[in-house]
Amino acid sequence: MNHAPADLLARFGSPLYAYDGAVLESALAAFGGAFAGIDARYALKANANAVLLRRIAAAGFGADAVSPAEVRAAQIAGFPNPRISYTGHATAREELAAVHALGAEITVDSAAGLQRLAAVAPGVACGLRVNTGVGAGHHSNVITGGAQSKFGVPVAELGAALELADSLGLRVVGLHQHVGSGILAANALLAAADALLRAAALHAQRFTWIDFGGGFGLPYRAGEAALDLGAVAAGLRERVARFAAQNGVHPQVRVQPGRILVAACGTLLTRVTEVKRAHETVWVATDTGAHHLLRPMLYDAHHEIENLSRPSAPLTCVTVTGVLCESGDVLARARMLPLPCEGDILAIRDVGAYGFAMASTYNLRARPAEVLLTDGAAQLIRVRETEADLLR
Ligand code: LLP
Repeated sequence: MNHAPADLLARFGSPLYAYDGAVLESALAAFGGAFAGIDARYALKANANAVLLRRIAAAGFGADAVSPAEVRAAQIAGFPNPRISYTGHATAREELAAVHALGAEITVDSAAGLQRLAAVAPGVACGLRVNTGVGAGHHSNVITGGAQSKFGVPVAELGAALELADSLGLRVVGLHQHVGSGILAANALLAAADALLRAAALHAQRFTWIDFGGGFGLPYRAGEAALDLGAVAAGLRERVARFAAQNGVHPQVRVQPGRILVAACGTLLTRVTEVKRAHETVWVATDTGAHHLLRPMLYDAHHEIENLSRPSAPLTCVTVTGVLCESGDVLARARMLPLPCEGDILAIRDVGAYGFAMASTYNLRARPAEVLLTDGAAQLIRVRETEADLLR
């Protein structure tokens, strides 16, 4: 980012979500290149900013939505309708009807979901989410496979669910799983793929597509090794080729990357509002917090933080906190930082995924503006909320 942070905050206000367009493009190119020939559908839940969505659509990705508004956002951004899927969990009949009316292909994740879908969209072609028992992820809250997870048809009940679909007149043409998020080991993703293909093999003739979900992690800590995307893509191709040869079928291969496409391009710029020494801790308070970036509080997630104003100040162990009236509102605990002073600008890195997307108005505080930074230009891509918005 060759934009002066102080200028950005003066122009757009603090705190501010700033996305680096070049970093976004390189993430899209890296994933698209590694997964060439595989239908990658971007999981909008990671970041649904309309301007970023247009860039992701233009780079050739499809879209995966989890709500009617996400389906609409994908359509407006220019994702082609046949490549917009909807993977909701236990959603109501009315929502299934709305999504069906929009024309997105629906994946349901239970026998009851099949029944609701058949009631609102008789005879439709759909996907089914299975829980193969395999789960993985950076925190227990993001593991979506296994006995502790609410998602999917248990694999032992897959046959019965497919028979139910037949009796309801639904055509289950796809099998999907998503085992979790923030996975950094290619082996873990491929072991999950093996489990899905074992489940699919029992009913191979039915499926025109197999969707391995998302979960592609990225290193949030300096020095942490990146996921080997080439190894994951090659492993998937090899496994699906074997599956195809053994079963005499040619299913389309799908994945649903979210985080890996958008996390690294995002930075949350914030101002230090106070520095206080108390109880042997140096507390660095900021004008943001868990209402704008929930991940540290919810998952103990690590985001690198830089002191942009005073990079050469003495390295000091500090705890960076937010403005919320809540003790858990800590952005980084016991972190070595060049000691900030009031007014300094901090950069919280890799917040492009599940950052703004999970922001709230807790404590009646506005959500920040978002800007997209490209060569020399800073484009406002979401206006900061106003007090009127909060009081509406
Ligand atoms: N597909 C499905 C069905 C999903 O549920 C998810 C994420 C994805 C794809 C995209 O997963 P990704 O590639 O981004 O890992 N808020 C958490 C992450 C929750 C992910 C939920 N599902 C976090 O900030 O770590």
